Formats: sequence, structure tokens, C-alpha cells
Amino acid sequence: MNRRNFIRNSMATAGSSLLTKPLLANRGLAVPETAPLPGVASSQQVPGAVPESQIASARFPEGFLWGTATAAYQVEGAWREDGKGESIWDRFTHTVGKVKGGTTGDVACDQYHLYPQDLALAKRLNQKSYRFSISWPRIQPSGTGAPNMKGIDHYSRVVDAMLENGLRPFCTIYHWDLPQALEDRGGWPNRDLASYYADYAGILAKHLGDRIMVWAPFNMPWSFTYMGYGVGAFPPCRTNFGDFLKAAHTVTLAQAEALRSIKAASSKATVGSAYGMCPAYPATDSEADRAAAARYHAMNNVFFLEAAMKGRYPKAFVGEPPYELMGFKPGDEKIMLAPLDWVGFHYYTRRIVSDASKVQAFNGGGFSGTEIEADPATGRDPYTRFRAVMPSEGPLTESGLEVWPHGMYDLVTRISREYDHPIIEITESGCGYLDAPYDKENGRVPDARRIEFFREELAELARAISDGARVRSFHAWSLLDNFEWANGQTERYGLIYVDYRDQKRTIKDSGLWYGRVAAANRLDV
Ligand code: FCB
Repeated sequence: MNRRNFIRNSMATAGSSLLTKPLLANRGLAVPETAPLPGVASSQQVPGAVPESQIASARFPEGFLWGTATAAYQVEGAWREDGKGESIWDRFTHTVGKVKGGTTGDVACDQYHLYPQDLALAKRLNQKSYRFSISWPRIQPSGTGAPNMKGIDHYSRVVDAMLENGLRPFCTIYHWDLPQALEDRGGWPNRDLASYYADYAGILAKHLGDRIMVWAPFNMPWSFTYMGYGVGAFPPCRTNFGDFLKAAHTVTLAQAEALRSIKAASSKATVGSAYGMCPAYPATDSEADRAAAARYHAMNNVFFLEAAMKGRYPKAFVGEPPYELMGFKPGDEKIMLAPLDWVGFHYYTRRIVSDASKVQAFNGGGFSGTEIEADPATGRDPYTRFRAVMPSEGPLTESGLEVWPHGMYDLVTRISREYDHPIIEITESGCGYLDAPYDKENGRVPDARRIEFFREELAELARAISDGARVRSFHAWSLLDNFEWANGQTERYGLIYVDYRDQKRTIKDSGLWYGRVAAANRLDV
């Protein structure tokens, strides 16, 4: 399907017109020629489009790990079952006015109970890797102390079910659901959390490390520290830049302490990451904008990576890092150093960055999908002093993120270059579209826009691999529609549709397509 079809499809209503050319051809059906729609850009005019020939020739290495990703709070439900403690996300979603539509993760996709079915669906889609997260308050309801064995036993069964379905268990140790009891003790700005967290990680490695070999300590550490403590979009809703810096530093220490405690408990363990990253392009060629884009990259993309790999913070700030405000102590550089075995990161969209070094305001800016953007009138904060905005040159998903496949290539090749060609795992990528089952198509979910998103982005990933990047996996976000944080159930990122009224799962066309890609290691399926 070319970009013109993409635009047509994004304008059409659900129905047979949403079938992509490759899908039709695969079913032995005639492929209709598409007449141009009045007022719709041709493929050549859609910025960022990947040529069809590149998609057709894209190949992935033998043994490439096709996967999907989920997170405990977003899928599990069972929010107070089997001794689970309250998390900051339970507290947040139970507070009126915080979540669009007033929904909570109390039930979510009920994966706590339905995991056998979901993992069997992943197998049906020829998946080889399953990235999931463990809920800390299921393991330590109040954040410290002896483990709750009901929680451990649950995840032990889940991991066994993954292995039975031929899925590599990829465990994210923390995907944002801090035990509320630890928030009550100061949350991430409290440096004590580094050692509590390392204990928790060690408990997981001790009980599950015979079967889990791939561990990522934190999902998107910049996001949950900045959005939780800096600008208040996520729990615990604090708006204090100093708290953000302290939280980030604790997380850096925690990441390294956890690496050591995991390895001490499990000789098979490998430890990497699940960072959120956006390639940053300077708004102009001026030195000031290029320096601002470099600061963005340092702060938002590689802050925690550089700390682990080199035991120092990258140049994210105008001038020296505000060490005192961060709570940095002499000797911390040694604690932070814990070289990762592989580097995992997400790619969703890009940022255009300009200099704001003349302003010192701290306005935070607006929330856009996965990130807070700079206030256009000022900078984002008084230390990094840049403006970062998401452009809308390419098409927008229904969740509002710009589709820019080329960013995948730029990001992957840049991290490869900067970190001496590490093994890379793409831990997340995906798009939010609201396509639903259509009764005139036998209940199919014709989500052609999602197929197009993945075709183009994966073609750019294949190009990065053929240019030498050592990428060994790709995890689509997400296996199934789920609870999208403060956006509740108003966004759907799944390859599988979830009807929240009865928990019925329906594989979307994109899921069927992704399953064929996983079997063939190519995109023209
Ligand atoms: C990422 C998060 C994930 C999900 C996707 C859409 O930022 O890691 O939990 O919300 O965005």
C-alpha cells in the first residue's frame, strides 16, 4: 500500500475499502486501482513516505525476535487481588478528574486471569518474544520486606506459560507502578528508593531468574520522573523541577544497583534497558539550535544510558549539571557505572528542537502522547533550556503523534555509533488508531493505517540493520488494546482489539499481518 492509499484509508470509514493491496493480493483477490480522492495529497507529496520498493525489499536476519510489549498496570487489572498493595497509579486513577473517561486500570484487560489466552494468541501470531512488566506492589505490597509469595507464584506461572508458547520472557522490572507506600516515604526523589528497588529486583532474579534472562530495570525513566515530579501530568503529580532532578538521580543509582543485585542472584541474567527516545532535529542550522538538539538528546534519550555505560551524566544542561539540586554525592559516579549487556529503547515519533538559553522560565508545556513538550513561548525548564516540539509535517495518528518512519533509522544508527555498536532491542513502537470490529466484514478489524505505520517504520529498521546496526528484536506496542495511562481507554494501540465490556479479543488485520511478517522475516507478505 502506498501513501496515497494510506491517506485514502485514513479518511475512509471502516469497510472493504480499508483492505490494503498486499492483504487483498494475499487472499487471491483482485487488487483494485485507487482513484485519487479530490483534495488528497499524492504519495509523492506526503512528507516522510518510504518508497514501496524499499518496503518490498526489506529483510530481517534469521532468528530475529519478533515480539510485542505490554505493562502490568495497563493490562493486568486485579488491582487488589492476592495481597497486592496499592500503587501510585491505583491512587491516581481513583482520583476523580485525572483520567479521560473516568476509567481506571482496576480491570483493564484482565490479563491477570486471561494470560493463558493472551499468550496463546501471541503464539498464534508467530511471536518469539514477550515484553511484560512486573507490578512491584504485587511482590512487596508496601515496597520493602519479604516477598508476597502469591505475587511471585503468579508471575512464575505467567513465565512458564510464555515458555510453553515459545515466547522469550523479557521482563521490565518497573513500568511506573510504584508502591504507594514508597511514595508516602518521599517517592523517587528519596535516594533510599535506590536500595529498596535493588532489593525488589534481586527478589525477582532469585525467584524467576532460572527462566528470565532478559531484564530491563526501568521503562522510560525520563518520562516517569519528569511527568511525575517535574510537571505533574502523571502520579504523584508534583511540579517541582528539583524533585524531578533528584528522582532522576535516584533512578540512575537504582538502575546500577539493580543490575548488580540481579546478576548476583542469577548467573544467567542479562540486563539492558527500555528507554524512551525521540530523534531530535535542530529547528535551524544555527549553532545554538544544534547545541539545543544535542542537549535534548542528552537529557531525553541517553541520560540514563550514559550514566550506566560511562558513570557520568551527558551534557544535558546549559553549563555544569546542577549536582547539588540533584542530590549528587561524591562517589556516585562509581555507583552509577554498570555497563548494560544490550541497549533497549522505544521509538514513536521525533522532536524539533530550538534554543531557549535566553529564558529561564519553567513552564513545562503541553502533554503530547508520550512526552511533555516545551511551552512554545519559553523553554521547557531552567537548566536544559531548549524548546522541543513534535512537528506535524507527516500524518498524525489518532493518538496525535506524527508518523515519521525515517526517525527509526536515524535513532538506531545514532545509538549504534555513539555506543560502539551495542546489541539493540527495540522495546516499543506503535500507533494509536481506534478501528473496531466491523460487522459487515464478519467482525474483522480492518486497521490498514496501523499496517502502513509498521510497514514503513520496519522498512527503515531493516535499512539500519543492513547498514550494520546489531538489532536483534522488535516489540510492537502492544499485543492488545489496553489502559493508556491518563488517556484511559480513549486510545487503542493493540494488534488485538479488546472489547472492555466482555473482554473479548479480536485479532486486528494488523495482528494477522504482523504474524505473517514474523513468520517470513520480510514485509511484503
Ligand atoms: C509508551 C509507554 C507505554 C504506552 C505507549 C503508548 O510511552 O511505555 O506504556 O503507554 O507509550
